[in-house]
Amino acid sequence: MTDAPHSHPSPRIEVHEDAADLATAVAGELIVRLEDAQARGEEPQIGLTGGSIAEHVHRELGRMGPESDVDWSRVVLWWGDERFVATDSPDRNVGQAMAAFGDRLPFDPAKVHVVPSSDDVADVEAAALAYGEILREHGAGSFEVLMLGMGPDGHVASLFPGYPQLDVDDRVAVAVTDSPKPPPERVSLTLPALNRSRAVWFLVSGAGKAPAVARALADGADLHDVPACGVTGELETIWFLDRESASQL
Ligand code: 6PG
Repeated sequence: MTDAPHSHPSPRIEVHEDAADLATAVAGELIVRLEDAQARGEEPQIGLTGGSIAEHVHRELGRMGPESDVDWSRVVLWWGDERFVATDSPDRNVGQAMAAFGDRLPFDPAKVHVVPSSDDVADVEAAALAYGEILREHGAGSFEVLMLGMGPDGHVASLFPGYPQLDVDDRVAVAVTDSPKPPPERVSLTLPALNRSRAVWFLVSGAGKAPAVARALADGADLHDVPACGVTGELETIWFLDRESASQL
């Protein structure tokens, strides 16, 4: 009896009124997933993303999280990408997330896996190698939920259309030195690493994203053209949109 091939379920699309409603919905759903995973005795591994809609989600998590049943000390955090800048740079995704959580979610620092900064290692390649090793060593094999923002060009994490990092399939994390979205130096998980996720959630708000959303969800979409279409959850893929970003569907 051969194993049935991974039949990735088709994406589910949720359209919310605006960015605020989208963020509240995502935070609420994430809290439920964390509670359910912990009720199963698991220590859920979550992939976070940078970007502005993620900022809204993180703030909502900080607001809603303390009243939930989530044991935040048993939630494991990872980042799909990070900027290779100084530890205290306002450009760091981890710094933006922690500020948005507002010290209201008592994570165990040992379970918050931060990509090395330019204060920690010599160069961005060293940071990518180090993060890949950390994920290999401390990862649980897949993310319970991976959240991804998407740029107007269809990029996710720091995987940009037409960039060679999209074709790297023998590494967990790669360096980007010429990101079209500043800052230029970043570490990104590769598509194979991003696809090691039970659930992939795209968080996309605003009219500027509508064309990329339509392209990403179109039949025959090519990941080199719109990288977002290269990531699907093993069990679930949800596009959390607002009216504007869904306006070309
Ligand atoms: C980053 C992000 C990036 C972001 C998208 C969408 O580090 O820059 O990980 O991939 O998610 O660019 O960003 P917005 O939600 O701000 O448009």
